[in-house]
Amino acid sequence: MDDVLRTDQSRPNDIRPNDIRHIIEADRAHVWHHLTQHKGFEVNDPRIFVEGKGMRLWDATGREYLDAVSGGVWTVNVGYGRTSIADAVRDQLVKLNYFANSAGSIAGARFAEKLIAKMPGMSRVYYSNSGSEANEKVFKMVRQIAHRHHGGRKHKILYRERDYHGTTLGTLAAAGQAQRREQFGPFPDGFVEVPHCLEYRSQYGAVENYGELAADAIEAVILREGPDTVGALCLEPITAGGGVITPPKGYWEKVQDICRRHDVLLHIDEVVCGVGRTGEWFGYQHYGVQPDFVTMAKGVASGYAAISCTVTTERIFELFKDSPDDPMSFFRDISTFGGCVAGPAAALENMRIIEDEDLLANTRAMGERLLSGLWGLAERHRAAGDVRGKGLFCGVELVQDRATKEAADEKQVQAVIADCMANGVIIGATNRSLPGLNNTLCLSPALIATTDDIDRIVAAVDGALSRVFH
Ligand SMILES: Cc1ncc(COP(=O)(O)O)c(C=O)c1O
Repeated sequence: MDDVLRTDQSRPNDIRPNDIRHIIEADRAHVWHHLTQHKGFEVNDPRIFVEGKGMRLWDATGREYLDAVSGGVWTVNVGYGRTSIADAVRDQLVKLNYFANSAGSIAGARFAEKLIAKMPGMSRVYYSNSGSEANEKVFKMVRQIAHRHHGGRKHKILYRERDYHGTTLGTLAAAGQAQRREQFGPFPDGFVEVPHCLEYRSQYGAVENYGELAADAIEAVILREGPDTVGALCLEPITAGGGVITPPKGYWEKVQDICRRHDVLLHIDEVVCGVGRTGEWFGYQHYGVQPDFVTMAKGVASGYAAISCTVTTERIFELFKDSPDDPMSFFRDISTFGGCVAGPAAALENMRIIEDEDLLANTRAMGERLLSGLWGLAERHRAAGDVRGKGLFCGVELVQDRATKEAADEKQVQAVIADCMANGVIIGATNRSLPGLNNTLCLSPALIATTDDIDRIVAAVDGALSRVFH
């Protein structure tokens, strides 16, 4: 702990060693935290984390936590305190920290090659530095393709109810989460919603072929809008912040078929699921889909550096080099920090760790243990209405009443989170995203989780459900 707070006193603006009170006050006075109502900090201290190791975190008061959400937002996939990633980043920074992406870099080329080898059918990587930005790149590519190859017509981008693709105005225009959009309009035109595919909240009744009907609902929107106006369909492989929604049987096969028949490009947002979270390198690889675009960010370098990737096929790439004499024909986009070489350097080492430690296999095994532990809770707690997940990415939908499926109150859901936190386990939940349906607990421990970690997480949720819904 002291090591973490120790500072180099030769630098004038440093905070005094070990003066944690000062740090808390500086934070309270000057830092604006994301997704946070700051009124609460007038009476409570902001939480400040100072150290992490593996799955464990320590806050400024010295309390230890087991992190079951990989840095809060499904990011630190290989765990905290990885010195080999820090070394790789340091070595890269002293050799070459940056040059704009109009030029290449050794780490950038190597990571692209390694990544593409894990994504059959894909061939090009465009670097930027957040999930939102990676998704914006696809939207811009789709728009440019529409202008250059379809007379401006195939410009509409479909997104799905309950999915989320980012925080910018462009990606919020593609957010299927009403509360995330609220107070930020007007949004850019040309984004159209398709229905969600959550069987538990079935819009199509208790039917055998729910997945096919949910996919048919997408086709109905394409037909309504006119296939010649629709350029792309953007979907999460498993909806993350919208409630950990695993696709129903038969869904993806039909979605792929619909996209092919209507010449609609398929964009899969792997910002959460990508790079191992679900037990395959990519979520879509569970379902045999062949996308046109794949975006990824959080787990690409596990939060050791900011990096995101927009990956596409050679067919799409070729559309941007067909007329070299036309000054407007190439992808006219820039990402300044897409040129930070620390990103691919960290990503390369992150991927080596996943391979050498066989973390995909661990994710599958521990994911099954987590899922079955949560189903066990559902047998004992009537509030646990549904359990969903794939790999180390699981959700528990909380309800007031199992028969009516009336959602648990957001305050109760937050009380479950607070109870786990008080017992040293950090879990998450859908948060101010879906009016009346912010009722799904989210669990996404690092891919290094052990059986003890998983059992402790399940026990914490068990205890919290008993106390909150007694
Ligand atoms: C599925 C998905 N896409 C995109 C994003 C946006 O990523 P970022 O916050 O890095 O911009 C998120 C963030 O949570 C996400 O969950």
